[in-house]
Amino acid sequence: MNFSFFVKSNITFGRGAVERLPELIRNYHISHLMVVYDSGVKAAGIADKVLAQVEKSGVTYTVFDKVIPNPTNEVVEEAAALAREVKADGFIAAGGGSSIDLAKAVNVLMTNPGTIDEYGGMNLVKNPCLPLIAIPTTAGTSSEITNVSALIDTEKVIKYVVIDNNIVPSDVIADPDFTRTVPQSVTAATGMDAITHAVESYISNEATPLTEYNSLKGLQILYDNLPKVVADGNDMDAREQMMLGCIITGFGFSNANLGLVHGIAHTLSAHFGLAHGMANATVLPYVMEYNAQSCPEKMVHMAQVIGLEPTGNLEEDKYLLAKELLKLTKSIGIKTLSEQGIREEDFDMLAEDVLHEPVLGFNPRQNITKEDVIAILKKAY
Ligand SMILES: NC(=O)c1ccc[n+]([C@@H]2O[C@H](COP(=O)([O-])OP(=O)(O)OC[C@H]3O[C@@H](n4cnc5c(N)ncnc54)[C@H](O)[C@@H]3O)[C@@H](O)[C@H]2O)c1
Ligand SMILES: [Fe+2]
Repeated sequence: MNFSFFVKSNITFGRGAVERLPELIRNYHISHLMVVYDSGVKAAGIADKVLAQVEKSGVTYTVFDKVIPNPTNEVVEEAAALAREVKADGFIAAGGGSSIDLAKAVNVLMTNPGTIDEYGGMNLVKNPCLPLIAIPTTAGTSSEITNVSALIDTEKVIKYVVIDNNIVPSDVIADPDFTRTVPQSVTAATGMDAITHAVESYISNEATPLTEYNSLKGLQILYDNLPKVVADGNDMDAREQMMLGCIITGFGFSNANLGLVHGIAHTLSAHFGLAHGMANATVLPYVMEYNAQSCPEKMVHMAQVIGLEPTGNLEEDKYLLAKELLKLTKSIGIKTLSEQGIREEDFDMLAEDVLHEPVLGFNPRQNITKEDVIAILKKAY
């Protein structure tokens, strides 16, 4: 057995954990902070709670609050220009994956030359980054602990990823109280993103015993709790479990990578701006149906972990998970592609672009054709 497994996170977990922020900031001897969030996080009252703690630290700060969902290179460059102007030497990102990914990308540009698109790919960030404290408010992307930043290149019309161990946030404050205000549809979509991470990393070509352990445990926790938080956003025990499940899963997919579901979702977001979690959730059941023949035993393991009972006939059992995921997505209000405004005449162009997604290299079923992708899109329509 030969493998490597990377973990580099300092996590402060728990309701009220944000009160530890002043102490964490002071540990880094930062002279000027940039605090990154978006308008939704501000409207939910979270930004003010975070800024109150920043003020207790006594460190001066500048706010960048123009994060957008599916952040683009342009927004990264705008935030980086401001960070350079104010001589920021540390960052706080409070928000979902969009805010944390943006802060990671800006952080790359503080200690490395050039523009952010030059870092698309794996292990291209040569110099270590500045301190970044991530405060996730969705559950979620796991971006708070991953080595990934996902960005849109509006010129090339692609969603690409910067993957590098140098960009992992230096500290995480995982305070489940901050997820209470996530709207129901965003709770469902972000929770399905997390379930997609667990499933895709478990069956990835790069999975190892350590990633599989994280992926399966994450899947179990997320599957048990997602329906609860969608039904009642104030169920704080379930919200807490979702945040925990995301962190556990994140260690898995940060090391094992993802697959075809993310390849399709990135293409849908790049062309049509679909929310990341919603795009994943829409195609997840059909991609798992498609993948089942390449990893039937793993499909059965996942089905068992979420409480399903196999019949003993592998030919049938390998589809149990896909069927259950379809039931789950329908029960929590995940939309079809047509309901998200996608037109059938775009399938050909979308499928062509999906085939160029590097993440397909980790998918258990290989030799994916354009016709295969179109068939999946039609089912999700
Ligand atoms: N870096 C990674 O490892 C990784 C993994 C998966 C996805 N991603 C990326 O993360 C992005 C998606 O992030 P996301 O799904 O967390 O959503 P998001 O950050 O785009 O936020 C979605 C919406 O929810 C609102 N919101 C967030 N937290 C809230 C709260 N507590 N209360 C009220 N509203 C709140 C935001 O204002 C926004 O309008 C995508 O760009 C995706 O590609 C990154
Ligand atoms: Fe994702």
